[in-house]
Amino acid sequence: MNILAFETSCDETAVAIVKSGQIILSSNVISQSCIHAKYGGVIPEIASRNHLDNIYHLTNKTLKESNLNYNEIDAVSSTCAPGLIGSLIVGVNFAKSLAYSLNVPFIPVHHLKGHIAANYITHNKLKPPFLSLIISGGHTLLVKVDTFTSMKIIGQTHDDAVGEVFDKLARKLNLGYPGGPLIDQLVINDYNINYKLPNPKIKNFPLDFSFSGLKTALMILIEKLGFTLDKTAICTSFNKKVSEILIDRMLKASQIYNIKKFVLCGGVAANSMIRNDFKKIINKEIYFPKKKLCSDNAAMIASQAYYEYLNNNKIKNNIYQNAYSTMSINEEFVN
Ligand code: KG4
Ligand code: ZN
Repeated sequence: MNILAFETSCDETAVAIVKSGQIILSSNVISQSCIHAKYGGVIPEIASRNHLDNIYHLTNKTLKESNLNYNEIDAVSSTCAPGLIGSLIVGVNFAKSLAYSLNVPFIPVHHLKGHIAANYITHNKLKPPFLSLIISGGHTLLVKVDTFTSMKIIGQTHDDAVGEVFDKLARKLNLGYPGGPLIDQLVINDYNINYKLPNPKIKNFPLDFSFSGLKTALMILIEKLGFTLDKTAICTSFNKKVSEILIDRMLKASQIYNIKKFVLCGGVAANSMIRNDFKKIINKEIYFPKKKLCSDNAAMIASQAYYEYLNNNKIKNNIYQNAYSTMSINEEFVN
């Protein structure tokens, strides 16, 4: 089954064609990060307008690279939630129109389920149940994944998402945007300076996260250090602390739910130190997507769409499907 999928939930315009949920026939991403970099973050209206500019020619390019014709596309899919609403609408509307004109099903996909599915492309034999840590620019969630399509949130952030703190720290250090990859490059594993940073815990919620205290501690430390500031030391100390917090929650969840298979995903799952630390501590069943599939892409959406399709034979020409800026990963789409 060949699925053509779109991802436009934030500032990446992405189109991909994936066969049977696992084989990428073609996948393209146009990142707008250079455009938004000068503002230090994503400007929603600029993002929507750029999706409009990009989507048509990116679709043609993706189809051409797959060596398929339109009549070999079996279904069309798009991220329908969560995300910037103006950006989502561009992808959803384009995808629905295409599905309608090709007379094939339209499959709505939850963006975060897509992030998890990036692992099915990378690891062909991987199957639920497992515990998944979704760490991105907008979300920090610990999820118990029961099947390919049904999952339950067991831990979440009470304030900032972890990727947001990477971006804010990078901004404060004048490194640029997005901050995660730039911090990743600065980090040195055995650096001789390690600043002491807090590990905020939430009373009665052992699997939840709070990153705002860590962010404030970083900002205060940077002000205090002034011109003696060592950027490598601060980035390394911060990255180490994030690894420590994530591993702590994952191990606690593993004990509580007695599940020993772990899956990381989302942009921050590309982080070198986090990947190494998880592999060191959890040396058996730990999975990450290929680095390229950690950040937003449409191949992961096509992969999840395949499992949604297998699970739900009601999916037909879902032409009334709307887009939603917020939606829990626990929920199902109703149009
Ligand atoms: O999953 P994603 O591409 O978009 C969202 O759905 O949010 O995640 C983007 C986030 C940004 O905050 C970015 O700074 C972070 O992922 N990121 C990283 C790395 N690469 C991207 N954070 C840490 N280390 C990285 N190598
Ligand atoms: Zn994402």
